Parts: sequence; structure tokens; C-alpha cells
Amino acid sequence: MSRNVTRAAAVATAMALLSPLAARADAANGERLARQWCASCHVVNGGGMAAAIPQGPPSFRTIAGHLNPDQTRAFLSRPHGAMPDLALTRAEIDDLVAYIGNLR
Ligand code: HEC
Repeated sequence: MSRNVTRAAAVATAMALLSPLAARADAANGERLARQWCASCHVVNGGGMAAAIPQGPPSFRTIAGHLNPDQTRAFLSRPHGAMPDLALTRAEIDDLVAYIGNLR
């Protein structure tokens, strides 16, 4: 198990080093972060039955519809809701903003 994790980390590092896009926002990573950190409160993928639930925080598709990327970035630079000790790095915020922007 830990060997697989180590190997995955090594592959990810190699890809990051090899990719000329490494410094750019990565919407796929944003989706992964969203599923991990945001899906407990938000509908992150814009689909499925949960999208029909009228209460609760806005879905990411709704957010994409009324916040532009700069507004989303500004919002995410502070904690909100009851978000537990979640300190996002600038790169993570950029990835999330890229993912949310793609739902538009
Ligand atoms: C513990 C629950 C919770 C978690 C986890 C959470 N949110 Fe939220 N979020 C809320 C609530 C509640 C609101 C609406 C109230 C507010 O603005 O504080 C909100 C609002 C937002 C808004 C503004 C929506 C608008 O229409 O202005 C954005 C953007 C957002 N969340 C993004 C995220 C992202 C990205 C994550 C994951 C990194 C996340 N949230 C995790 C509860 C949560």
C-alpha cells in the first residue's frame, strides 16, 4: 500500500516536472479537490439527484453561473460555511476555479 502511494507520488512528481503546463491551473485536479473537500456540502458535478435538493449551499454549476473566476478565487481565499480547517494553497484555488469555470 505505502509502496503504491510512493510510486504514485513519484509518477505525479515526474509528470509535474515534465509537463510544461505544470504551473498552470489544472481543472482535473480541481475536480479531485472538489470531490474530496467540497462535495460534503456542495453538489460539485452539476448532475444527479442531489442537484434537485433545493436547500443547502449552491451547486458548483450555480456558482459558475453567477461568480466570475476572480470572484470565486477571492471567495476561496477565506474560509466559509463551516469549512473545517481547510487552508487551500493558491495553486489549489486556481485548480478549483478552473474546474468550476468549466461547469459554466
Ligand atoms: C461545511 C460545508 C461546506 C464545505 C465543506 C464547503 N462549502 Fe462552500 N459554501 C458552504 C455554504 C453554507 C455556502 C453559502 C454560505 C456562505 O457563503 O458562507 C457556501 C458558499 C460557497 C461559495 C460562494 C457561492 C456563492 O453563490 O456566492 C463558493 C464559491 C464555495 N462555497 C466554494 C466551495 C469550495 C470550492 C469548497 C471546497 C474547497 C467548499 N465550498 C466547501 C458550505 C461549504
